[in-house]
Amino acid sequence: MNTGARKVLIKNVVVSTAAACFFVAGSIILSFAGELETVKLAAPRIDKDHPFLEVLKNRSTRREFSTRDLSLQELSDLLWAADGINRPESGKRTAPSAMDMQEIDIYVATAKGLYLYDAKNALLVMKITGDIREITGRQPFVKDAPVNLIYVADFSRMSRLSAEARDFYAAADTGFISENVYLYCSSSGLATVVRGLFDRVALEKAMRLRPDQRVILTQTVGYPG
Ligand SMILES: Cc1cc2nc3c(=O)[nH]c(=O)nc-3n(C[C@H](O)[C@H](O)[C@H](O)COP(=O)(O)O)c2cc1C
Repeated sequence: MNTGARKVLIKNVVVSTAAACFFVAGSIILSFAGELETVKLAAPRIDKDHPFLEVLKNRSTRREFSTRDLSLQELSDLLWAADGINRPESGKRTAPSAMDMQEIDIYVATAKGLYLYDAKNALLVMKITGDIREITGRQPFVKDAPVNLIYVADFSRMSRLSAEARDFYAAADTGFISENVYLYCSSSGLATVVRGLFDRVALEKAMRLRPDQRVILTQTVGYPG
């Protein structure tokens, strides 16, 4: 677990010195079993035509999921919609952020491992090998749905605020990101549920977060079951 990996990134293909071959979310990844990996995300399909009011009409929480994986393109679009950079000149994002602190990181728990969404470089950077989906909630579907998003506040980016203000803004900023995910799922025929009920201590431990990082909410995404 967690051994460093030497890899060459070629377009959407991550190649390591190893021979084992895996398909992850539509991309080809060659790596040693158990190695950390980096996945190059696809450019978002921002030309998709989805009337906005129809998207709102269909927004809902759903708790039945297929085990079918999201494609790399679907996952890339989802993450960009959630909190991607939509104004590269300023680095600002699809979700608003109090004082532009951008303190919320999105972690992505899949069957293969736990990744951190690097919006600036459009990458998924593996942090932990192995499946921690089950710990992202208390409901049975969380362990089988393909993607569980974990919204983590990095309080080191909010050090000028009081603890009360920090908690308030971290929660508010997470809400905007989660709603973006809801709207993306509504527009794309995906199911989603955001969660406040989970074992925070167990999840933060499994994710090996620093003491100044806090899980705010988790959110399952997948095809409807
Ligand atoms: C902050 C927050 C926390 C939530 N936590 C949970 C949860 O732990 N488990 C769950 O099944 N749904 C959770 N939900 C989803 C709500 O139950 C759901 O949004 C509500 O029933 C309204 O349904 P709708 O989203 O379809 O309008 C949460 C929603 C929010 C906004």
